[in-house]
Amino acid sequence: MIEEAARLIARSRFAIAFTGAGISAESGVPTFRGSGGLWRQYRAEELATPEAFRRNPRLVWEFYRWRMNLIRKAKPNRAHYALAELEKMGVLKAVITQNVDDLHREAGTENLIELHGNIFRVRCPSCGYGEDLKKSGRLEEFLAGKSLPRCPDCGSLLRPDVVWFGEALPEDAMNRAFGLAERADVCLVIGTSGVVYPAAYIPRIVKESRGIVIEINTGESGITPVADIFLRGRAGEVMERLVRMIRRLVK
Ligand code: OAD
Ligand code: ZN
Repeated sequence: MIEEAARLIARSRFAIAFTGAGISAESGVPTFRGSGGLWRQYRAEELATPEAFRRNPRLVWEFYRWRMNLIRKAKPNRAHYALAELEKMGVLKAVITQNVDDLHREAGTENLIELHGNIFRVRCPSCGYGEDLKKSGRLEEFLAGKSLPRCPDCGSLLRPDVVWFGEALPEDAMNRAFGLAERADVCLVIGTSGVVYPAAYIPRIVKESRGIVIEINTGESGITPVADIFLRGRAGEVMERLVRMIRRLVK
């Protein structure tokens, strides 16, 4: 199975990857569903919805500062690096991620589409102010802060630049992602439960456009029924083996 997957990827004309929280699990970032998942411990509707933010911004910011702190210490793992290497080899054309953790970028992926935003960015819902706290060098200061963050331009309450339940995806990211899915002849789907839409349409669009779906997951997911090849295992381990095989094939 894995050899067949390696051959298909090595021979592809336009391969893409679609990733979820499972790819960052080996970096120590908790997933959302499954054992130890965030939505097992916390109620999503109290923490990750616009209503929750209106009702209790302090609680929501406490949750996001806690996650930022945790994610900040995480390092990309073998799976993130493997995707970056496939891009450098010219085999992989883009990574579409549902993750907000920035680990693909840290691993060196250049053509990255973040469907659900980025946890290190904040934005002002009133005036459109936005800031990348890693780039501005203000992350430490921000995390040490105890009060609610305010917009430097208009004084409104800042919010994390992530997509919450019930919110639309950033239009540009979604259009680019769907366009890539239509073009892709191979799509590697890694570590996603495939139950959150519209993101979960991506592998289905690939299928409808007659592309091949190769899934890597520790267990079956909502994507498994449309997967042509299912590689059961941890993302880091499977990706390392897969890239080793692809390296040999494309030389
Ligand atoms: P989930 O937590 O729903 O699913 C994680 C998937 O990763 C599961 O299918 C696991 O079996 C798999 N998994 C766990 N560890 C793995 C490993 N080491 N290697 C490979 N697979 C592994 O995460 P997502 O599918 O990303 O949305 O969740 C989708 C969206 O739901 C998230 O983007 C977030 C969440 O609510 C928003 O924040 C809008
Ligand atoms: Zn503002």
